[in-house]
Amino acid sequence: MTSILILNGPNLNLLGTRQPEVYGATSLSDIEQNCANWSAKSGCPVTFAQSNHEGALIDHIHAARNVRDGIILNAGAYTHTSIALMDAISSVGIPTIELHLSNVHAREDYRHVSYIAKVAIGIICGFGPQGYIMALEAIKSHVED
Ligand code: DQA
Repeated sequence: MTSILILNGPNLNLLGTRQPEVYGATSLSDIEQNCANWSAKSGCPVTFAQSNHEGALIDHIHAARNVRDGIILNAGAYTHTSIALMDAISSVGIPTIELHLSNVHAREDYRHVSYIAKVAIGIICGFGPQGYIMALEAIKSHVED
């Protein structure tokens, strides 16, 4: 069964209270619970993690090497700045989906740049918390097909 790491970057621990007009009212623990429910239904093991620190996110990606079959990464603002996260994904060679709750392309210009997109198999953005389930289905299909 496809084993998946869902990794969340800076400020996503504040979901539910953080700019609800942009990110909605759902907390990160609610999203984690939805993903756990999907895991129970699908039989695919899912690990969920969050860090506000770039190096800690890189450590999570390295630890997934030879352990996880796919990564779903909402790198938050590091999406738009982090060559180091991009290199970490390339280094482990694990298929990775870039994920955002908001439609970053309908927002500020600086959110249109993504280092993660250069090494991701695909991008899901703009569907709020449902995007996590869409990404789980997508990575499962990608790995198993
Ligand atoms: C985000 C979009 C990023 O631009 C922003 O910095 C975030 C959240 C999203 O999920 O919509 O922190 O990744």
